[in-house]
Amino acid sequence: MTIKDNQKVFFGKEKVSKSEKQKGVNEIFSKVTSNYDLMNDFMSFGAHRLWKNIFVKEAKIVKNSTILDLAGGTGDITKIIQKEYYNCKVYLSDQNSSMVNFARDRAMNEGFINNTFFDTSSAEKLPFKNSFFNHVFISFGFRNFSDKDKALSEIIRVLKKGGTLHILEFAKVQNKTFSKIYDFYSYELIPRIGNLVSRDKESYEYLVNSIRTHESQEETCEMLKSNGFSSAEYKNLFNGIVAIHRATK
Ligand SMILES: C[S@@+](CC[C@H](N)C(=O)[O-])C[C@H]1O[C@@H](n2cnc3c(N)ncnc32)[C@H](O)[C@@H]1O
Repeated sequence: MTIKDNQKVFFGKEKVSKSEKQKGVNEIFSKVTSNYDLMNDFMSFGAHRLWKNIFVKEAKIVKNSTILDLAGGTGDITKIIQKEYYNCKVYLSDQNSSMVNFARDRAMNEGFINNTFFDTSSAEKLPFKNSFFNHVFISFGFRNFSDKDKALSEIIRVLKKGGTLHILEFAKVQNKTFSKIYDFYSYELIPRIGNLVSRDKESYEYLVNSIRTHESQEETCEMLKSNGFSSAEYKNLFNGIVAIHRATK
């Protein structure tokens, strides 16, 4: 174990060890799996669908690519890719087995199982060989990682040279007035919606706090570059409620 392994990281608004964060995050996603898709629609008024479509479209996926949908959850990104680009192989990987099982059933029911592969492992220790993927996508997973540097070094390892990493994540809102309205909505209303829809206020308090303690757009770019990506850039959507980062190996 190195000194870095002992560093504390944010889990919501608390600082905990990396292993505690991994366990805590896993417990949350096991609890929310069955309501996860419904809650995303409620909380974002359906906007997450638009963000995810823009995210995939703007990635400029190369034909016949091998793609990793990392922290793939219930499979939204895998589904968009498979419906748009039939000639890609997509590996959905997530550390939470409930989410992976849910995604597999969904892929079968919704017709995107062909050329889709499922894997349960953590981003910090990927089971794929070096230089295997053309593109890696992470949608709303990055801020939950217990060791972002370790995950990024794994992503660099499994990407081909010239391959790209695409991250869609909550970010820092740019406009001060809008930021106040957004704060009210997220601190006051999201946990209540969570309680109403899924009788689970705590998981949605975690969600709100994890957004606030996650790195800014600029800090994420720095992190990508310091972990070996040759370039990193971002684009805000909805005034920075979310941002898309793109980095090249
Ligand atoms: C908010 S969900 C996003 C799911 C999906 N990508 C989407 O956009 O709807 C976050 C996912 O990240 C997964 N996750 C969290 N930490 C992880 C890690 N260290 N390695 C792999 N998956 C992780 C969770 O299990 C969960 O399924």
